[in-house]
Amino acid sequence: MNQSNEHDLQDHLRIKIDFNHMMSDQMGSQHGITLDEIDDLAETSKEIHSDLKNKREKGELPFLDLPYNREYIAEINEISYTIRKNFDNFVVLGIGGSALGGIAIQGALTNPFHNMLSKKERKGIPRVFFADNIDPDGFQRLLDFLDLKKTAFNVISKSGETAETMAQFLIVRERLIQLFGRDAYKKHIVITTDLKKGWLREIVNQEGFASLIVPQGVGGRFSVLSSVGLLPAAVMGVSIEELLAGAELMDRLCRSESLWENPAYMTAVLKYIACTKKGKAISIVMPYVDALKGVADWYCQIWAESLGKKFSLDNNVINAGQTPVRALGVTDQHSQLQLYIEGPFDKVITFIVVENYEKEVFIPPAYKDLEGVTYLGGHYLNELIKAEKVATELALKKNQRLNLTITLPTLDAFTLGQLFFFFELQTVFSGALYHIDPLNQPGVEQGKQFTYGLMGRKGFEDKKKDAQDSARKNKRYII
Ligand code: PA5
Repeated sequence: MNQSNEHDLQDHLRIKIDFNHMMSDQMGSQHGITLDEIDDLAETSKEIHSDLKNKREKGELPFLDLPYNREYIAEINEISYTIRKNFDNFVVLGIGGSALGGIAIQGALTNPFHNMLSKKERKGIPRVFFADNIDPDGFQRLLDFLDLKKTAFNVISKSGETAETMAQFLIVRERLIQLFGRDAYKKHIVITTDLKKGWLREIVNQEGFASLIVPQGVGGRFSVLSSVGLLPAAVMGVSIEELLAGAELMDRLCRSESLWENPAYMTAVLKYIACTKKGKAISIVMPYVDALKGVADWYCQIWAESLGKKFSLDNNVINAGQTPVRALGVTDQHSQLQLYIEGPFDKVITFIVVENYEKEVFIPPAYKDLEGVTYLGGHYLNELIKAEKVATELALKKNQRLNLTITLPTLDAFTLGQLFFFFELQTVFSGALYHIDPLNQPGVEQGKQFTYGLMGRKGFEDKKKDAQDSARKNKRYII
């Protein structure tokens, strides 16, 4: 029996979804979802299931097969071994889907203070940075901080031409060449890009950098389980085999066409009904786990960029989408929750909790005579955070605010792999419900093309003119 089959049999290793607080019998008929409303989508869901299955069989949804795509693992492990052996710093240059998965893995599975530890305390694992912005101050400060002799860069770009990533690459390349010369500098760079297409692949072919492949047809925001997320994960010391095994388990848990047996489909349907029938245009994801903040950001990208579309598949203007928002429990109970409980009825909240935190922190008893303080003593922070989550959920329920809860038994590579796959499938299924293409991003491309025009890229002169014309402003409105 292989490792993932063993996991399969152990129900307690699975993430679980509780959607009681989405349903009308719990939340009231005005906002809650009825069984009939779910049933109304049962047939459509079966059709979507069969369509996705066909597309998958034809190789049109290759990201769904990433959990089984083990052919790159040896290469990834080998490159990560070399990086860990030779360098103290590892910097990812990439943006959007080329960075958010790695950031999510780093946040979820590594010590948040790792980069501050001494080399000995880091036990051979380099400091890891994600440079996913081009703020000149931010980027320059990072470069000033790094000892380039001890730094490896992973340039990640599926298209191989994203302006931000290419600009970062050019800056870093020049510095490395000045320091180490035209040959030796190459040892500091690993490139992750398409096998054949794009300027970055052309550069790899010309200069012979170490490189990894973003598999054909796997878009940025669906690429966390490819070499895009897996090389940074391996460098950080995360078990990529466990990440993939978790994703594989979730894939197998989501093979049924029945909504009641398919957590990704059921939650997609619930959020779809909430959005289109109950006016919940905002999808908040609120982990009660610091380490899952990055996953919440990753979710925000996949949900926004995949579902926010002007045109339906049959070319009607529908302006679909549900705005994702990241919140953090308990921190945002003292910032956002007031709005969630008493503001407009336009939100659905997905909580993410863990059954078992890694640490237990005891609250010592003290101030016996002060009843407003003494009740805490003798408990654990673990109990307090769980009580606060339940209390928040109940306050939301009392005010008919829809919410559901995803529970991870523990936070580790195996459960994180499940979570990634769960959200990816939920997103693609939702795309089909909205009748849009969740895999493209024409709006982002439009912005990219204006940038090319404004920066003087050949072939984009019309974009430059268009951008300059549209950018004309009325001085009256600038005060
Ligand atoms: O999800 C996506 O497709 C985007 O967010 C891309 O990842 C992002 O625009 C970066 O693109 P690339 O990887 O081609 O540099």
